[in-house]
Amino acid sequence: MSPSFDTSRSLLGGLDPAEFLRDYWQRKPLLIRGAFPDFESPLDPDELAGLACEEGVEARLVEENGPDGPWQVSHGPFDEAIFAELPERDWTLLVQAVDHYVPEVAELLEHFDFLPRWRLDDIMISYAPPGGSVGPHIDHYDVFLIQGLGQRRWQLGGKVADDAAIIPGIDLRILERFEVEPGDDWILEPGDMLYLPPGWAHHGISQSDDCMTYSVGFRAPSADEAITSFADYLGEQLPASIRYSDAGMALPATPAEVDDASLARMRQLILDTLDNPNQLAQWFGRAMTQPKYVDQLIPAEHPTDVEALVAELQAGEVLVHSLGSRFAWRDLGNGNATLFVDGDAIECALSLAQAVAAAQLDADILEHEEAAMLLGALLDGGSLAWLDDEEDA
Ligand code: SIN
Ligand code: CO
Repeated sequence: MSPSFDTSRSLLGGLDPAEFLRDYWQRKPLLIRGAFPDFESPLDPDELAGLACEEGVEARLVEENGPDGPWQVSHGPFDEAIFAELPERDWTLLVQAVDHYVPEVAELLEHFDFLPRWRLDDIMISYAPPGGSVGPHIDHYDVFLIQGLGQRRWQLGGKVADDAAIIPGIDLRILERFEVEPGDDWILEPGDMLYLPPGWAHHGISQSDDCMTYSVGFRAPSADEAITSFADYLGEQLPASIRYSDAGMALPATPAEVDDASLARMRQLILDTLDNPNQLAQWFGRAMTQPKYVDQLIPAEHPTDVEALVAELQAGEVLVHSLGSRFAWRDLGNGNATLFVDGDAIECALSLAQAVAAAQLDADILEHEEAAMLLGALLDGGSLAWLDDEEDA
């Protein structure tokens, strides 16, 4: 079966997703004029400011000439009054994970279904008056920068070494040296999009009264995070009886020495333990579906009545993934799969896992044996929601 993507040709500037992945993804920037034709920002600046005032929402304010010094960063939640006191230019409000709060923003993600969903971090939205910027910098993540409202000038400074000098003494990682590559200087209009791979120096400066930029960010676990997290997961499964052993060892030359043979045995123990494809898959699915904000997963107040759930689906109600919930599955090769949801794992039929991981679930899902029980459990855990409730949230 060839994959079908909800990706119009305009999104990637005429490239099909496979061409984009081959030539640009993780390799080089791509400017796409009119990626989203007639784009209308689902959120206006006041609504974004309102979100930044809410408890639990991750928001930052960057003031280029702050009262306490240059490039001052303050963290939300903010008091509404703060916005009236800001100068007319040169500041930026950044709000993370707006896709967790606004269904119309989450819908933008459907356009990026040509990438593994577990690679997605979130959609951050920035607002800036004229001159607002967060300074020239690099990010460790791939990002699609969609111009949502007004104009932003983007300048690129090429691939930069990880240890490039940054301005000391401020709360932002602004590059000390930033030279615009010839030709890499554009003004983006609403609906235009700029793709940037990790490590590419960039500088975006608001050119209009109201500039909003949507950053669709993709994450890649660092070796440091992956090793720590996988080792923790394995550590919980391993019996204490699996240990270093040295039966038949040669007489040590001297008792205080850590010799090569001992190190070789220890190394083998670690490699044998780590080299376990099933455990790797089980850990990876759990790790990559951990919610970005664990406390945003709100379990149901009352356990779901499974018969009532079936009746509601049959009456035409639709279940959806809760905003911010993460779903993935791994084929176990025997007709079954592990369904990973928000850091947990459930074994079920492969076809059921595939259906549950799709965006919307209607009465058709009841054709799968044991679907109702599974949906009830996911509703109880807060990973699924009724579409009507999600839209009203
Ligand atoms: C912004 O939207 O102001 C900054 C986004 C970025 O440079 O990553
Ligand atoms: Co950036």
